[in-house]
Parts: sequence; C-alpha cells; structure tokens
Amino acid sequence: MTNPSLLILPGDGIGPEVMTEVRKIIDWFGAKRGITFDVSEDLVGGCAYDKHGTPLHDDTMAKAQEVDAVLLGAVGGPKYDNLDFSVKPERGLLRLRKEMDLFSNLRPAQCFDALADFSSLKKDVVAGLDIMIVRELTSGVYFGEPRGIFEEGNERVGINTQRYTESEIDRVARSAFDLAMKRGKKLCSMEKANVMESGILWREVVTEVGKDYPEVELSHMYADAGAMQLTRWPKQFDVIVTDNLFGDLLSDLAAMLTGSLGMLPSASLGAPMDNGRPKALYEPVHGSAPDIAGQGKANPCACILSFAMALRYSFDMGEEATRVEQAVNKVLGDGVRTADLLNEEGITPATTAEMGDAVIAALDASL
Ligand code: IPM
Ligand code: MG
Repeated sequence: MTNPSLLILPGDGIGPEVMTEVRKIIDWFGAKRGITFDVSEDLVGGCAYDKHGTPLHDDTMAKAQEVDAVLLGAVGGPKYDNLDFSVKPERGLLRLRKEMDLFSNLRPAQCFDALADFSSLKKDVVAGLDIMIVRELTSGVYFGEPRGIFEEGNERVGINTQRYTESEIDRVARSAFDLAMKRGKKLCSMEKANVMESGILWREVVTEVGKDYPEVELSHMYADAGAMQLTRWPKQFDVIVTDNLFGDLLSDLAAMLTGSLGMLPSASLGAPMDNGRPKALYEPVHGSAPDIAGQGKANPCACILSFAMALRYSFDMGEEATRVEQAVNKVLGDGVRTADLLNEEGITPATTAEMGDAVIAALDASL
C-alpha cells in the first residue's frame, strides 16, 4: 500500500514557523506509530507571488488536486497590500478552495479546560464549549458574478453578488446534518431570510434536506441574532450551518469565545475522490499575523490541531487524532502557554518551538 500523501503549503507570516512544529508531529508519527506520510512542500500566497508572480502556481494547483490532503499555514502580509487584487496572496487560497471544490468548511470552536479563564466571556459561559460551524466555502458573495468596480455616470460603483443555487445549499446542508448525526444531533442554520432572497432559498432548501434527517433537531436563526446568541449563551448550539460570508464572521466570533484564535483548526472538505477520501485542505483559522512573524512567538496549536483533523477526516485515524488533541490538552493543563494565551505580565511565554516540543513530549507520554 502506498503511503498517504500530504502537500504542505506553509505560506506567509507565521505560517512557516507553525508548520515547522507540525512537521515534527508528522515525523513523530513516522518514527513512533509507523504511520508515514509522503510529504511534499510548495509555495502559496505572497511567497509564491515573490517567486512566480502569482499567489498560486499552476503546478502547485495541480499537485494539490493529486494529494490525499493539503495542509496550509497562512497567507498574506502588509508587503502585499498594494498588489493588484488578482494577485493578492488571498487569491491563492481562494483558488485552492474553488478549484478543489471544497464546499464544506468545518470550524470547531472548542474551549480547552485550561483556557476557560482566558476567554473574554465569563467562565461558565464558555467552559466545556464544543460547537462546530459548517461554513459554505465555494460560493456566495465571495465568488458571485457580477463583481467588480464599475463606472456609473460620474462615479464608481463597487459590486459583489450573493448567489446560491439549490444544489450548493443542499450539499453543504447534508454535510452539516451528517456531522450533527455524529455529534449532538442539533443543527442551527443561519441566514438573513428577512432581507435576502438567497436567505429565503437557503432556509427552504435546508428545511427540505432536514426531512432526510428526522433525528436531527433543526432550527433557523437570522445571522445577526445568531451572532448575538453566540456571545450570550454559546452552549445552546451544537452544529451551525451558514453561508460563506456569515460563516467567515461567525467563525471568528466563535473562535474568540474559546480564548484565542491560536487554538483553532479547520477542515475544508469536498466531494470524495476515487480512493473514497474527500478532497481536503486543512488550515488554522488564524491568519499570517505579520506583526509577530519570525519571532518565535506564534502558537502552533491551531496548525497542529489542523493536522489532527486531517488524521480524522482524510485518513480515518480518529484515535490518532484524539491522541494529538489530548496531547495539546495536556500541554495546556501543564501550564505551557505561548504569548497569545497569557494575560499576566511577568510570565515568560513559551516559544513556538517550545510549544511544539511540549506536544511531542505529551505524545511520547501517551504511548
Ligand atoms: C478565513 C479568512 C479568509 C476568508 C481570507 C484570508 C481570504 O478570513 O479563512 O476565514 O475570508 O475566507
Ligand atoms: Mg476569516
């Protein structure tokens, strides 16, 4: 049997630093668990632009289509702010999502016990929180046409289009219901059916799909009310399904409930490939954090946990995924903290590498 293949795209900013720690975990699995991945590495984002004049080279795109899973760090940075829109680092990521057709973006927001005090919300509101946001990732206002900046009379007009077909809503809804079946069997769908026709259609299609999942308790909320409820009492939710733009906003909000963006992984999944595995890309929810890049301050946990999601969703290694998650949990319980997880002065934070090494030590202890 051939080894499972992974394409690693560290990207920009803190991406390469956090990915170095993930490489340690991947190597650990080869050495200690006999699970060897064929790993290749390439460029995406600003660094790809610097080398090739495009944020994603066609060869890299082709490789991404062939491997079993892609693991991405982060893209973007102030250096690229004034680039033409078509070659901005983010376009590289968006092209990957679109051409791999990764329509279902899983963003768990889980509050690690040791971090419950660290949230900006009260401890009892967030302790034990475990919700999953399923964000539609390949359509909606991110990709809808017409789009652009046009001349209209004597001024310019900026246009983007929110557009959803029934089949696009249907497939992401199904992936959310499937997940809900494996979790708490509760699904809340969020849109703005009170002001948007696309929201009306969204609600209708999700309701229709729900008939195939009679065990799942389905509810609907306007996305603005959803944001309010997420901060008021987030534990009322199990799985949330929403469109691309609302999902972008709500997942940042949900992430912060848990204390730090530096802890949160994500999986972007598409249709099954010939080998039965879904097309898949895994990436931390955080960005490239250019302000701390290259200083060894970044928290590698989100990227490490993204690799754990790859173990679970691409390679059917749920137990090994849990092993990684528990190792991270143990490290936090032992008090190891990168700078993003500290609000007291006078404590020296762990570096990116120290955090990675602590996770490796916890993995060793798990054997
Ligand atoms: C995210 C990011 C991206 C998005 C950017 C980097 C294009 O904010 O993954 O949430 O808007 O989807
Ligand atoms: Mg975002």
